[in-house]
Amino acid sequence: MREQIEKLRESAIKAVWKAKTLDDLRVAETHYLGRKGELTSLLRSLADFPEKDRPAAGEVANRAKIEVEREIGKKRAVLEAEEFQGLGENEWTDVTAPGARPPEGHLHLTTQAIGEVTGIFERLGFTRVRAPEVDWDYYAFQALNMPPDHPARDEWETFFVDLPAGRQVHQGKMVLTPHTSNVQVREMERGELPIRIVCISKCYRRQMDISHVPMFHQFEGLLIDKQVSVTHLKGVLDYFAREFFGPGRVTRLRPFHFRFTEPSFEVDISCAVCKGTGKSGALRCRLCKEGWLELGGAGMVHPNVLRAGGIDPQKYSGFAFGWGVERTAMMKSGVVVDDIRTLYKNDLRFLNQF
Ligand code: FA5
Repeated sequence: MREQIEKLRESAIKAVWKAKTLDDLRVAETHYLGRKGELTSLLRSLADFPEKDRPAAGEVANRAKIEVEREIGKKRAVLEAEEFQGLGENEWTDVTAPGARPPEGHLHLTTQAIGEVTGIFERLGFTRVRAPEVDWDYYAFQALNMPPDHPARDEWETFFVDLPAGRQVHQGKMVLTPHTSNVQVREMERGELPIRIVCISKCYRRQMDISHVPMFHQFEGLLIDKQVSVTHLKGVLDYFAREFFGPGRVTRLRPFHFRFTEPSFEVDISCAVCKGTGKSGALRCRLCKEGWLELGGAGMVHPNVLRAGGIDPQKYSGFAFGWGVERTAMMKSGVVVDDIRTLYKNDLRFLNQF
């Protein structure tokens, strides 16, 4: 018996000093002194010894256990000291070194432009309002003097949304709004006059090329009051152009046709890429081709639209305009983007420039 205990003691101490890490040491400790460890089991088996041999065997076994525990303690101190020293060397930190700045994001060019546009119109007394981006065909077309099947609707290359089966159609089909003009009659229906609002929102069209994306933003201005004329419209557009583009850029109004305004205009601004020349070296400017870029439309609100919104065209008149936010931002001096699609490619090398 004594011999067996001696053997176990020796092999336990050997295993303890062989341990290279604290984990190894824990494994050795469990192997000999754990609940089912070899030394523990031996101590437990002493209960079955004949009464006369039990005290002597117990003493030897206990001494062996104490000795193994002491060796484990010593080895643990050595390993902990080594680990602590390693910590100091491997995880050394210069607390006086300046900190590393976390990467800092910034607003997307379109979001920056939306903020700037909102600010300019707020200074003129316009309030920013919202209209649904998924709306009834009625507000996007019909109430804007474009009855069902009118060919003018084709210009808006619209995405239609299927209604869930069984859902009753109240105001025609549902569309992803192709322009922010759906705000006009919605705002008139609120019944508060005068109206002086700007609506900035996402718009959707089945278009994709160098100057079109399927999802873009427009800002729509609407002013309705007594005795509003084209002069007021021109004044507001000129104020916006000066504030947003700076004094160096020129705008022009071209007669145009929209079903919901009469008279109607297209508003153009001289191109920032070719500086209004229409040329890029010997070639034509890749973006505008002719020196001008179309920003959007404008005009005096059509009497039929006023009527659709419950407003008497004999008493009230108004103007509206709707411009693309991306195109407007791209035409700002200092911003040179020659393909609108790059705005939404999420390439940080491009976006970080702005
Ligand atoms: C309209 O959408 C009219 N609702 C504007 C309007 C409002 C006229 C109020 C009169 C009164 P238009 O389809 O031209 O008009 O679009 C206006 C502007 O939106 C365009 O000039 C352009 O700047 C921008 N735009 C249109 N389609 C896209 C597109 N696919 N990608 C990027 N910008 C676009």
